[in-house]
Amino acid sequence: MTKEAIRDLIAQMTLEEKASFCSGGDFWHTKSCERLGIPAIMVSDGPHGLRKQADLGDHLGVNESIKAVCFPAGCATAASFNRELMEEMGQTLGNECQAEGVSVILGPAVNIKRSPLCGRNFEYYSEDPYLATEMAGALIKGIQSKNVGTSIKHFLANNQETRRMSASSEIDERTLREIYLAAFEGAVCRQKPWTLMCSYNKINGIYAAENEEFLTKVLRDEWNFDGFVVSDWGAVNRRVADLAAGLDLEMPCSNGWNDKLIVEAVQKNELDEALLDQAVERILNIVYRFAEHRDYNAVFDRDLDHEKARRVAEETIVLLKNEEGILPLSRDEEVVFIGKYAKEPRFQGGGSSHINSHKVSSALEAVKDWKVGYVQGFHDELDVVEEDLIKEAVKAAKKAKKAIIFAGLPDAFESEGFDRKHMRLPECQNELIRQVAMAQPDTVVVLHNGSPVEMPWADQVKGIVEAYLSGQAVGEAVTDILYGRVNPSAKLPESFPYQLEDNPSYLYYPGVKDISEYREGIFVGYRYYEKKKMKVRYPFGHGLSYTTFAYSNLKTDKSKMSDQDRLLVSIDITNTGKAAGKEVVQLYVADKISTELRPVKELRDFAKVELQPGETKSVTFTLGKRAFAYWNTKLHDWHVESGEFELLLGSSLEDIRGKIQVEVASTVQLPSQYTLDSTIGDLLEDEKAMKYVDGLLKNSPIFQEPEEEEGAASKSAISLEMKKAMFQDMPIRGALSFGDGTVSVKELLDIVDKINKGE
Ligand code: BGC
Repeated sequence: MTKEAIRDLIAQMTLEEKASFCSGGDFWHTKSCERLGIPAIMVSDGPHGLRKQADLGDHLGVNESIKAVCFPAGCATAASFNRELMEEMGQTLGNECQAEGVSVILGPAVNIKRSPLCGRNFEYYSEDPYLATEMAGALIKGIQSKNVGTSIKHFLANNQETRRMSASSEIDERTLREIYLAAFEGAVCRQKPWTLMCSYNKINGIYAAENEEFLTKVLRDEWNFDGFVVSDWGAVNRRVADLAAGLDLEMPCSNGWNDKLIVEAVQKNELDEALLDQAVERILNIVYRFAEHRDYNAVFDRDLDHEKARRVAEETIVLLKNEEGILPLSRDEEVVFIGKYAKEPRFQGGGSSHINSHKVSSALEAVKDWKVGYVQGFHDELDVVEEDLIKEAVKAAKKAKKAIIFAGLPDAFESEGFDRKHMRLPECQNELIRQVAMAQPDTVVVLHNGSPVEMPWADQVKGIVEAYLSGQAVGEAVTDILYGRVNPSAKLPESFPYQLEDNPSYLYYPGVKDISEYREGIFVGYRYYEKKKMKVRYPFGHGLSYTTFAYSNLKTDKSKMSDQDRLLVSIDITNTGKAAGKEVVQLYVADKISTELRPVKELRDFAKVELQPGETKSVTFTLGKRAFAYWNTKLHDWHVESGEFELLLGSSLEDIRGKIQVEVASTVQLPSQYTLDSTIGDLLEDEKAMKYVDGLLKNSPIFQEPEEEEGAASKSAISLEMKKAMFQDMPIRGALSFGDGTVSVKELLDIVDKINKGE
């Protein structure tokens, strides 16, 4: 339907009808209007499957949804570092939605994994905004290619479950831009999600739902978002203010109460009716975009999609440790699987993203015809160390050639609605692993969890596999990796610290009452650990393979560029081992000398390449301004400081295989903002300002640039270093107190004025 036709429809609506269109018809539908022939559309949770509730609706996963296929959750898919795979998964989900008449799937959820404690980390992608936004963007692209919408969520800074409906995320401007907004930005700007879901929380004291700065200024004016904004379920706080700020659709609905407030506000001239019309127009645009592109031939083939879920899962399982090549296992060796999750895997999280899987494969079932034994090892309903179960496991482990322990976080430890209390596995599992590893040196641990766990036993076992929550085909996928049918190629989308206390948000998370201060600023995840030179258990981007890769021939198409240029970076990757495999090539950028506080390096691009043994492929990246930029709070814009940058290419944050330098020149002159408090040192660093320094120094005995004199330090009470520091750090106004009295305040102000005018 054309814009004009939609506007024409709106013109025929009464004020009450328009207001009522801005809230849901029921838990999952928009409203219809028989009189004007407007259909309702259905939205459903996901996004790693379809949680379509045909009957009773709820936003917590309480009531049943239709049988569907559970793909790996966000924590896992991010580990694939594979955009094409995400896009394919999106196409499959889009097709499922078409088959089921679902217009919008409520995801992806791109919130930054700020703390390992966040209960919903399993749905989220990464601690790195670039990775998060790229992976989410690829999923959106795939889903929307089937003419089904997405709802990127939860906008903004919803990084904890504690008091999620009232807490205020207190974040400075630069951190918001570089970390929390950036996770949305790429996906919104490049993939144009049909809808965006605002979060429950406040940002710097203002509810996301009524936050004009983000819902309109950033989202619409800067990022050109043209879909509709929907509230998280029940996130509306002050309906009229929310609508004015840019929140179009309230879900589910407030039984008409909030619609009435809209009507009254228009009648009393407190709300411009044009704003209401605009919200209705945005909603109807999407209603018709879906309604007019229905694919009535689409079929939801659950068995077929299960196989697709398996293929995705195979790329999301990270091989963290493989000492003495304990993996892959051979089908002929006698192995014992230990742990409840070998038989009843934990493959998804609890809450609104919970999928009613049509079938689930367990690792045990996947190897049922091979020489594999099983013992339970632990219960996961209560965290109680059961010595008899451990004894049985130790005995079986000793008897077998290798022991594979399937451990992980029980639902009660990690879910929507609450945060984790600590970063440990249940004690009964840690004790099991410790005792089995003591009895059987050839022990491997497979983990099922949505967020990092402490691994006190990591040095005692030979192998560790991070299976994350890899969906209903988990059993097949995990055994494919364990037995080498598939070569692992996933990488950690987050750092695994040794202990919770190492995490940068530790002191402030989840905050005090309703205030959650993000005091670590931009130093989230690896940006912090690397800056602090703090060792972590496993770094961002880490993941092993059964083959090896060599990096060579790193080059750029230029060694000098301006911040308006594009830089091509290429590198050759060779599979130097015996197995076919996939490598994730990671490109980080480091600002060598910066006057701003910056992370050591930041992920700016990545690529996944598939290589046969002996094969070489060249990978090329294109970098623009943003790869070198930080958010400048004076310009309120991205800015590149002129100077040397280093491009670092490697297999993980810590496994860098090639470095190359490039000089970037800024095309933006930062405005000078000197005052009488500016220091001599700052003036001397600024080409335009340094010529005024002499004028300030005239006739000042101690206001003289110190000269290197031999032995000066020993002759004087103050060292040369101290003199230099005094000089450098002296505010300009110091000329009044420490000069000979001939420089006046007016003269100083004139100098400052001239410098600021660039004279
Ligand atoms: C969750 C959303 C979800 C919605 C609908 C909310 O509680 O935060 O992620 O899409 O419910 O179920």
